[in-house]
Amino acid sequence: MLKLCKEILRSELMLRESGIYEVEIIDLTEKGEGIGKIEGLTVFVDGTLVGDKAKVKLTKLKKNYATGELIELISPSEGRVESLCPYDECGGCQVMNLSYKKQLELKKNSVTQTLRRIGSLDESVSVHDVLGMEYPYEYRNKAQFPVGKKDGEIVVGFYKKGTHDIVDAKSCCIHRKVNEQIIELVKYYMKENNISAYDETIHKGTIRHIVTKIGFTTGEIMVVIVTNSKKLKNANLLAHALKSNIPGFKTLVQNVNMDKTNVILGKHNNIVYGEGKITDFIGSLSFEISPLSFFQVNPLQTRVLYEKALEYAALTGDETVFDIYCGTGTISLFLAQKARKVYGIEVIQEAIDAARENAVRNGIQNTEFFTGKAEDVVPRLYEQGYTADVVVVDPPRKGCDEKVLGTIVEMHPKRVVYVSCNPSTLARDIKYLCEKGFKVKEVQPVDMFPHTMHVETVCLMSKVNK
Ligand SMILES: C[S@@+](CC[C@H](N)C(=O)[O-])C[C@H]1O[C@@H](n2cnc3c(N)ncnc32)[C@H](O)[C@@H]1O
Repeated sequence: MLKLCKEILRSELMLRESGIYEVEIIDLTEKGEGIGKIEGLTVFVDGTLVGDKAKVKLTKLKKNYATGELIELISPSEGRVESLCPYDECGGCQVMNLSYKKQLELKKNSVTQTLRRIGSLDESVSVHDVLGMEYPYEYRNKAQFPVGKKDGEIVVGFYKKGTHDIVDAKSCCIHRKVNEQIIELVKYYMKENNISAYDETIHKGTIRHIVTKIGFTTGEIMVVIVTNSKKLKNANLLAHALKSNIPGFKTLVQNVNMDKTNVILGKHNNIVYGEGKITDFIGSLSFEISPLSFFQVNPLQTRVLYEKALEYAALTGDETVFDIYCGTGTISLFLAQKARKVYGIEVIQEAIDAARENAVRNGIQNTEFFTGKAEDVVPRLYEQGYTADVVVVDPPRKGCDEKVLGTIVEMHPKRVVYVSCNPSTLARDIKYLCEKGFKVKEVQPVDMFPHTMHVETVCLMSKVNK
């Protein structure tokens, strides 16, 4: 009967597809589209915010949902603010026109709802307010700008949402201001030296991307020019211009990428000036950053996140800790300062090499790193007699493999600290652990990427005493 009603409703809507509906926006998707209902049918409306009442024209009708186009705001959400970004076309920051306070409330609400709905999180456990930034702008330490040509002029900026059309952008609120000067210098160098911009449609032209990396604590700056050629004409002139004009400029690297690919960086680097690397700190730990190495893009909030993980781990100096999905070992090194021993497990060999180098660099001797899939390595280590008092996991978006969770349960650690970039898989995994004798104690969301829908969560679980 319900099915029949839905069918009738859908065909009704189809008949009125070009009609305009009043919709109240009740939530946002991960991509930042508003979610509303038209007589029970979910409709996604780009450009709307939670709390907006809008006139919406249906544009697409699928089996279980519809998409609509915003025609007019009848009454705007009370959280609406003027976006500081002049470029609507970008789509990088989905909620810049929502006040920062409301963004944090939205993220807290999204984590809470997801953990209650999918994770059956007990009503007695409250999700803490999101730890946000005091100044939620210019927080990215890494920027990647595509380079192209439009109407005979070099354009450098970002790809228009969902396309590879480059929008020539003068500024970006979440990047460091110094990038604007760097872009101008590279454009000037290209014009003066007759160096072409890459055209991906014909796979011709020289400069594909400008990548910058900035050490927030050290102030050191690396500029990487990605080229579709082995040589970069007069690159030393660009290095000279950067050195003379950009305080903190430390190194210029040419990265060669001659493949027909959307991957930005190629494997081969030519150091034009400096050492081809810069340094930065998270807390008291120092890290080397090279063109290809991974480093968290918001270092200020990374410190907040790691300190929360460390606080929840409640280490006294006697514990053995597993840091599963450890990447370049940043969390492992943080924990090692307070633990007896930390074992890090990660699938990418280069990341493990970096983790070992970072340990040496910081004089840390109580870490050991293993390369391989966590679902293979963790059970094997446990079989060999390794075990943990505290387990930290920081998995990719798909969450932890069930074999990893199963072995954690067998290990009987006192505490599990789960760092997650995806509330849905966090919810699924905490449900599994709760069914096997753990209890959620604390849930702390952290805002790593203001103005986007992304939210990171640190969750503390402990063994239930029988
Ligand atoms: C969210 S990152 C965590 C990075 C690290 N904790 C940090 O803060 O820099 C997830 C990591 O899991 C790794 N990974 C993905 N699948 C894996 C698997 N099956 N086994 C082990 N590591 C995996 C990725 O390479 C990545 O480094």
